[in-house]
Amino acid sequence: MRPLKICPSILAADFSKLGEDVHAVMSAGADIVHVDIMDGHFVPNISFGPSVMKSIRSVTDKPFDVHLMIAPVDLYLQDFAHAGADIISVHAEAGPHIHRTLQAIRALGKKAGVVLNPGTHECAIEPVLDMVDMVLLMSVNPGFGGQTFIPSTLQKIRNVAAMVRGRDIDLEVDGGVDASNAGDIAAAGANWFVAGSSVFRDGPAHYARNIAAIRASAELGRGERV
Ligand code: DX5
Ligand code: ZN
Repeated sequence: MRPLKICPSILAADFSKLGEDVHAVMSAGADIVHVDIMDGHFVPNISFGPSVMKSIRSVTDKPFDVHLMIAPVDLYLQDFAHAGADIISVHAEAGPHIHRTLQAIRALGKKAGVVLNPGTHECAIEPVLDMVDMVLLMSVNPGFGGQTFIPSTLQKIRNVAAMVRGRDIDLEVDGGVDASNAGDIAAAGANWFVAGSSVFRDGPAHYARNIAAIRASAELGRGERV
């Protein structure tokens, strides 16, 4: 089985002390920083850009997983690469040239991920599986934290897990993930868990507990705990 990773979505962090909060959550046992970039066009919300991301890059050595919810996207890939992204994920729905975009990410020396909205069929990524290191399945409609996990995502995870089996590809799930559903998500075949609200809930004193609860549920779902 591929390694299990907990990826806090820093959209749920306290923006008035972003660096401090990201440091706190990563020190509390998380594995990968999930950075949500929203443009008010591809999704109906605006978050922040590469300069803000760059300003917090040094607070942890852990990888930065940059989820781009922007269109057009190609113009900005280099900025995020230079701001310290390790993995850059782009939506299959964000433009007509996903193949070119994934080529461009790899050409920048970064890992590439492809993302699917809940309403997009998984066959959309079949032609580009040789070009990605990660597939991200949205389990809510992108744009906002704090939404409810869409249950039909579980079957989609199973389908994509079967598609990528035997390849060097991680399977990430994003939206409404918490300790109550992480077990089912893991059992369906995902190994990276993005979580915003459920990780940042109740403030820094509870980050370690929140992360441990999601991890324990996922391990149970993978059969690694009894
Ligand atoms: C939604 C973002 C998510 C979101 C997750 O568009 O991509 O990463 O912040 O937040 P929760 O875990 O609160 O659903
Ligand atoms: Zn995200």
